[in-house]
Formats: sequence, C-alpha cells, structure tokens
Amino acid sequence: MINLIVGSQWGDEGKGKVVDFLGKTADVAVRFHGGNNAGHTVVIGYKKYPFHLIPSAILNRRVVGVIANGVIVDPQVLIEEIDLVEKDGISLKNKLIISDRCHLIMPYHKALDEAYENARGKNKLGTTRRGIGPTFADKVSYNGIRFYELVNWDSFVEKFEFQAKIKNKILKLFGVKPVDIKKALVVYKKIRTRLLPYIKDSYQVLKEAVAAKKNIVLEGAHGVMLDVDFSPYPFATGSNVISGAVNTGSGILENKIDNTWAVVKAYLSRVGAGPLPTELFGKTADEIRDRGHEYGTTTGRPRRIGWLDLEAVKFTTGLTGANKIVLTKLDILSGLKEVKVCVGYKYGGKDIPASSCGYLELAKLNPVYKSFPGWSEDISQVRRFEKLPKNCQNYIQFIEKFLKIPVALVSVGAEREANIIRK
Ligand code: GDP
Ligand code: IMO
Ligand code: MG
Repeated sequence: MINLIVGSQWGDEGKGKVVDFLGKTADVAVRFHGGNNAGHTVVIGYKKYPFHLIPSAILNRRVVGVIANGVIVDPQVLIEEIDLVEKDGISLKNKLIISDRCHLIMPYHKALDEAYENARGKNKLGTTRRGIGPTFADKVSYNGIRFYELVNWDSFVEKFEFQAKIKNKILKLFGVKPVDIKKALVVYKKIRTRLLPYIKDSYQVLKEAVAAKKNIVLEGAHGVMLDVDFSPYPFATGSNVISGAVNTGSGILENKIDNTWAVVKAYLSRVGAGPLPTELFGKTADEIRDRGHEYGTTTGRPRRIGWLDLEAVKFTTGLTGANKIVLTKLDILSGLKEVKVCVGYKYGGKDIPASSCGYLELAKLNPVYKSFPGWSEDISQVRRFEKLPKNCQNYIQFIEKFLKIPVALVSVGAEREANIIRK
C-alpha cells in the first residue's frame, strides 16, 4: 500500500501528525521534495518532535526513513535532527537513508536567501531564509553540489571552492560577509564523516520496496498553494508540491500510489507574504492563532489566519488527485459563534476560479462565504463522528460534499491518537 500525504493549503496543515499516524503500519517513509523549510510536528505524550528533514513517521518501530533525491538538505540541520531522535534511544543506524542525489544547502545559499530578502525591502517574500530558493536555482543551473560529491571528497573540495568563490563575489555586491572557504571545508569534512553511513542510492531501495509491496508513506511538505508552478508565484516555495513531485523526487511512479490524502486545516494559516483572500484580522484571528498555537515550527513567526478557502482547496485537490481528505485542527474552532468557509471567488463582479488567479487577482477579489453556526463543546476527546456536535458534523459534511471527496480522517488534537476515523 502506498499512501501519499499532501498539504492542500499554504502549509502547516498538520501533515507531520497525519504522516506519523498513517505511518503506524508503514515499512518505509519518504520525504521527496522541499528542504528544511518544512517543519512537521509529531506529538507523543508530552514529547514534541519538530521534523524538518527526517520523515515524520520515523518514530514508528518498523519504519525506515528515506530522504529521497528531490529533497535539498542542510546537513547541519539533519545532524541536529538525528541527534534529537537518537537522544531518545531510537537508533537511526540502518533506519535512515539519504539519497546521494540530494543537493546540499550551503552557507552561501542561506546568505543569498537572506541578502535577497533584505534587498527586497517592503516587497520581501517572507521566505524561511533557509537557503531554499538559491539552492534550487543552483540545482537547475548545474551549479549545485550533491551528497554524491560529499562522498567523493576531492570533487567536493573542487566544486565547493569554485562555487564559494563566485558566490562570495555576489555576496560582496550585497554588502554581506563572505563565506570563509577554509573554515567551511573543515566543517564539511566532519559532516562527511558523520553522514557517510546514511548515504545510499535511495532509488534502488524504493524500487525494491515497491516491488515487494511494502507499506510506504510519502510525506509531502509545504502546501500546494506554494507549488513553484501552481502558486501565485513568486509567493511560492522552490519545489513542486503536487503529486508529480513523487516521481521526480523519489523515482516512485505516480500510478503506484493507492491513496492521496489531502491534509486540510479546518481554517487557514499562512506564513510569509502574499495575498490571502480569506485572511482574518483582529479578535477572531488572534483567538484562533492563540488557541491553535499558530506560530511557525521552523521560524517561530506568528502565522496569518483565515477562514477555510474551499475554492483554493478544490483547485489543489484537483492538482493532486486526492481521494481522501484529512480535516485537521477542528478542535480549534470550538467556541466560535459562527464559522465561515469560502465557496468561490468574485472578481470584477464575475466568478473566477482559483486556477486563473495570479497574485494581482487574489489581492483584489471578493471571497464568497457560506456561514455555519458554530459549536461550543470541546471536541478534543471525541473519537466517533456521531459524538460530534451536530453543527460540527454539518461543517464536515458540507466540506466533503463541496469537494466531492470523503473526509476520511478528522484530527481533533495534536496527539497522535486524537483522531476520528471514518469509514
Ligand atoms: P505541518 O507542517 O503540516 O506538519 O504542520 P505543523 O507541524 O507545522 O503545524 C501544525 C501544528 O498543529 C503542530 O503544532 C501540530 O502539533 C498541531 N496539530 C496537528 N493536528 C492538530 C489537531 O487536530 N488539533 C490541534 N489542536 N493541533 C494539531
Ligand atoms: P510545512 O512543510 C508554511 C513558505 C514560506 C514563504 C515561502 C517561501 O511545514 O508545511 P522558502 O523558505 O520555502 O523559500 O519560503 O514558502 N513556506 C512554508 N510555509 N509551511 C511550510 O512547510 C513552508 N515551506 C515554505 O513561509 O512564504
Ligand atoms: Mg509546518
């Protein structure tokens, strides 16, 4: 069985929790795109794991985690994460694989990300400043450096020196401190020693796993509204987020996927800049942000809040071919008198589909809302659909009817078992 989990809004939908839960019986868990701009939280009892690179299902006993070729990796972040997991007595020896095709996020990529953001001034995009854009740019312009080079040290030194010298000239133009090449090489030598045991041809491992009909969970990062092609670019991240990224990012064929789970938060959050049609301000936004702890897992930034935008979700579930919805953080809406969802966009008095909207249209259009009476009950302990307040049931049923996709799982708490499983 192959399950793909994909964020269907602007990220932070609760993918980490869902991946851990659906990964309970998995043999292999795969990250296939993005980098450590992702922050996926898994909560087990009092313990919180914020994963940036290691697949979020790793804590499940049987799981082997694969960081496949489509992922870009800041090796220092990865080492910190390995330490975090191993400190809890979970050995990652033979339990974690990094593709030798993964590109490395270098210090100059982070410096360039930062420098571009600062130079953009009031037009800054609000990137995570983790070097994502510059690393993907180097990848497609043949200036990237992969784990393959890290294995073959002499090639690494040659390429790193060449790239760093050029990047230092650019950084100088920005008025930014250049990278100390000698010092960096000492650090990379240590990184190499530490990570060598994990570096493998992940394609072979995954090919064999698929052939052996193993249980595989594919962990999407970010959200489809941030997809480098289908977002209101440039308010995007550097990778494709749609299901096709599975193929390019891991080698697993898209037609082998059994289920695509679209993770949809019961409201909306967004970090970074860019138009957000259903954005809320003031008391309701503050209330939801505080109750939902909507502060970035990667950067700690307060997240922007909005009503659930079903016009956008209809667009993104179409792009991923989702056949199941996971509705998350429904517990956070308890106590609101009224809950709204956006069911369409009006631009210049006419209907406009989300797919036709660039950032200019998104900033100007009017969302069309449907309003629901709220519910006051705490639903975080509920485990059966029929036990939910009637208004809450209506909200769920409207969503699946609108999207024509069943809400198969409802998440009512951060803890891994806080779920309502529907048939
Ligand atoms: P991801 O990037 O999609 O994995 O999401 P994040 O981990 O960045 O943010 C989701 C946050 O909501 C995390 O703090 C989760 O622990 C938490 N969370 C996930 N699902 C639920 C839920 O159903 N209810 C509540 N209250 N919190 C949840
Ligand atoms: P997870 O996987 C929320 C956003 C950034 C910024 C834009 C570009 O945790 O859902 P980047 O650093 O990628 O160049 O920033 O993309 N972004 C995310 N927002 N959750 C994420 O990941 C994100 N990954 C990127 O906030 O607006
Ligand atoms: Mg996140």
